[in-house]
Amino acid sequence: MSQFVKELISKMTFTEKIGQMTQLSGDFFASDNSAITGPLQQANLATTDLYQVGSILGVSGVDEVKKIQENYLQHSRLKIPLLFMADVVHGYRTIFPIPLALAASFDPQLVSQTSEIFSREAAAGGVHVTFAPMVDLVRDPRWGRVMEANGEDPFLNSELAKASVEGIQGQQKIPDADHVAACVKHFAGYGAVEAGREYNTVDISEWRLRDQYLSGYQAAIEAGVPLVMTAFNTFQGKPATGNYHLMRDILRRELGFKGPLISDWDAIGEMIAHGTASDLQDAAQQALKAGVDIDMMSMAYLKLARRVHPSSELVDLVNQAVERILNFKESLGLFTDPNRGLHSENEKQIFSTHNLEIAQQAAVESTVLLKNKNNLLPLSKDCRLGLVGKFADNPDLLGSWSWQGKMAETQTIKSALQENFTKVSYIQNQQLQAVDLQLLKQQDVIVACLGLSAQQSGEATSMTHPQIPDQQLALLRKLQQLNKPIITVLITGRPLVLNPIIKNSDGLLLLWFPGSRGAAALAQILLGEKEPGGRLPMTFPKDLGQIPLYYNNFRTGRPLVGDKSDLENKYLSKYIDQENQPAFCFGYGLGYAKTALSESKLDKKTYQSIDSIKVSVKIENHSDISAKQVIQVYCHQIVGETVRPQWELKAFQKVKLQPKEIRKVEIDLPLNRLAYVHSDLKRRLDPGNYCLRVGFDSQSGLRQSFKII
Ligand code: NOJ
Repeated sequence: MSQFVKELISKMTFTEKIGQMTQLSGDFFASDNSAITGPLQQANLATTDLYQVGSILGVSGVDEVKKIQENYLQHSRLKIPLLFMADVVHGYRTIFPIPLALAASFDPQLVSQTSEIFSREAAAGGVHVTFAPMVDLVRDPRWGRVMEANGEDPFLNSELAKASVEGIQGQQKIPDADHVAACVKHFAGYGAVEAGREYNTVDISEWRLRDQYLSGYQAAIEAGVPLVMTAFNTFQGKPATGNYHLMRDILRRELGFKGPLISDWDAIGEMIAHGTASDLQDAAQQALKAGVDIDMMSMAYLKLARRVHPSSELVDLVNQAVERILNFKESLGLFTDPNRGLHSENEKQIFSTHNLEIAQQAAVESTVLLKNKNNLLPLSKDCRLGLVGKFADNPDLLGSWSWQGKMAETQTIKSALQENFTKVSYIQNQQLQAVDLQLLKQQDVIVACLGLSAQQSGEATSMTHPQIPDQQLALLRKLQQLNKPIITVLITGRPLVLNPIIKNSDGLLLLWFPGSRGAAALAQILLGEKEPGGRLPMTFPKDLGQIPLYYNNFRTGRPLVGDKSDLENKYLSKYIDQENQPAFCFGYGLGYAKTALSESKLDKKTYQSIDSIKVSVKIENHSDISAKQVIQVYCHQIVGETVRPQWELKAFQKVKLQPKEIRKVEIDLPLNRLAYVHSDLKRRLDPGNYCLRVGFDSQSGLRQSFKII
């Protein structure tokens, strides 16, 4: 603790300390300086409470931020600047593809670059902290928040968690005034909500939490994330926000997190609804003991401030929390410049041409080509396109959590295709009358833009049927009768059950929510100016009843391997009415160029646990066009102390190849990545026999064996 912070704390009253530990939304801070705003009255707060509050969420914009900060500093006794926090998740004003789409890029450098851009834009808009990245491991597409996540694989999740934090903070441990600080969320395990239902119970074993769910948060902490947010869910029967074991033992002691811990919105107060706290005072005490420093919006900590004689334990806990908060404020330079980052020079880069170019590149790298029958794609510029579907002329391409992004400045697919193709016939009518069908019949190819709207993914959008609505399927069926090649472009924030779509489409492009420049990226992809660069970060199931379905499930005692004798055997881990296979597996995605792997080799047969394996493989581009591929390395442990997944991703590398290029690629695989959590809850690496597979997805590849001694 600096001398400055020490002296400041010594001057603070107990109430002022609690104020620093409270966060309110922007509605409380009326910009016209009026004494009592509606929300204050509703929450039974006085203006004096307001001028002691430590942070504010959901406000940005140079003028607004300056006004609130100046007014606050005029009124507050000790003049401790307010911290401004907000959800800048995949873009501030320039919107990048949603995080799940960016995960499909399998490109940590790109994720770092897009994060840095939105961080700069947000800092210029007066934000100090973004509530990102969200690194909850996700396996259930019924949960709407999968769109904010990095998918189902712990290794990919960790690599991207690290890249996001480094990007947001501008590769600095303490972000300078041109960047915001990151806040990783939601600690811990929120992605495992039962039945994919939002805010529901999480009941996974501590073994599983440690083996698969913790690594994303850990990677963010190791990358220097200065803040952590708690989760809404329970862990082992206790709400995470009041869970001493989770926060003190695991987060602080084991993972070594030293910064401020903030609750999710009203998560302290919600302990009453959970039935684990009797009232706000009780909830506040539990959260404080568990180590939560900032109460977002439940006003529970303010209740503690009203205590006439706080216990010495309470005083100690409050002092520790305040120290963490003020240290953080000091590290950001807020005491020297409460208007940090708010320079007109910085503002100019918001929504700049450069930022939009990167958004377009990111959309190209995130788009996944799922089907390309008879190499229908790419198309020629003068091919006659018939364009239909809900998303054909619709700026709803930004996705949830795109706060400052504006649909009004988002180009639609129709406009981008009209700019790039000579003949585009757009049919607005979704019912397709005879005259529409007549017009479509005269086209060479039909492009159907289908999907779910931004309102159908993100927080509070759990869904029992993650699939394309019937009305849109009916449209596709009508199109099918025209006997024309159909390319379906999918807009979605989550994996969908795509059965009728796969059958009725010749080309299938998964655009996700591609952001500000998604439509232009699609035009480039359709024309073959760019190869779609995405590979699935989540499995796409064949059937609703298979959910949750993910590639890295644990081995069972009666596995279905898939050969003939298996299919006849009733007593295996399978369904009687559906296959175990997904529609599209993790890691899957096609390119336009034809590529192949051969000659995979390991540098040795036997390794020590501290070694790295050098995996080498030859990749060949057989085509006359340049190629993009994601080389994926999966490992399999023959015998473990606990069960292990059949295959687990342990390394990947995205490569770009010239036409006809042949290249030898070397991938480093440090063996400590193969360590896993044993039944004593400790992570370690086992000696023994292993297999490794190098391929282009999670289901196939070239196999090698090796041994760790
Ligand atoms: C609730 C969400 O769960 C969290 O992710 C978000 O950061 C906060 N609201 C603040 O908006």
